[in-house]
Amino acid sequence: MLRTEQLDAHYGLLQALFGVSIEVQRGEVVALVGSNGAGKTTLMRALAGALPVERQAIHLDNNAVGGDPECGQLARGVALVPEGRRLFADLSVEDNLRVAAESCDRSGPWNLSTLFDALPALADVRRRNATALSGGQQQLVAVARALATNPDYLLCDEVSLGLSPVAVQAVYDLLHRVSANGTAVLLVEQNVSRALAESSRFYCLQKGRVVLSGTSRHADTQQVAHAYFGS
Ligand SMILES: Nc1ncnc2c1ncn2[C@@H]1O[C@H](COP(=O)(O)OP(=O)(O)OP(=O)(O)O)[C@@H](O)[C@H]1O
Ligand SMILES: [Mg+2]
Repeated sequence: MLRTEQLDAHYGLLQALFGVSIEVQRGEVVALVGSNGAGKTTLMRALAGALPVERQAIHLDNNAVGGDPECGQLARGVALVPEGRRLFADLSVEDNLRVAAESCDRSGPWNLSTLFDALPALADVRRRNATALSGGQQQLVAVARALATNPDYLLCDEVSLGLSPVAVQAVYDLLHRVSANGTAVLLVEQNVSRALAESSRFYCLQKGRVVLSGTSRHADTQQVAHAYFGS
């Protein structure tokens, strides 16, 4: 289980997260919602080891790992699909995946061959420069690149932003296949109804605090909207 316990995070003097406690179990899809600046990306980056936080604030299978670097978290099975994708612009699709796979020697179901089998649309363009593809294809590359490290926990920050409905569906289809194989998915999604539809549980952040959480299927959308906007 990946969990935070009273997690605070700062950018210099600015405090962005205040006592955030969440948990994600293997095989779950958990959504993180909240308005702009609520702290969603900050929480994802803290979990992925990209921000300095207190050691006891993040636990992975009961080991305190807060503040460990990104490569440490990747080696333990926590991979981030970052906001804005951040593909390696000068590399082909295949090399984007290869770099990730070689950065981490975790074993598991994913390698170049199984990724291209699962994503035939990417296999067709594997030798093309990753950033020359459509937004939807680039997003699939970004998710595949994280999967290439064989994570137990896949953190996805705004994976549907700016994509066509068909492309959004393709990304979520992939995430559900991943979770069915036992990998936990924690996703940030701007579209609240989509977030609730794609997840089993959710947390709503407002101004750096968890203000609402629960089971997605039973969520009262008005209550979530209220928590989301804080009005
Ligand atoms: N690199 C940074 N330096 C300083 N402050 C930052 C930095 N990144 C984020 N912040 C601030 O931290 C707070 C939380 O930002 P964060 O990016 O986590 O929000 P978010 O929920 O992901 O928002 P969005 O929906 O716009 O992506 C905001 O007040 C933001 O201005
Ligand atoms: Mg963000």
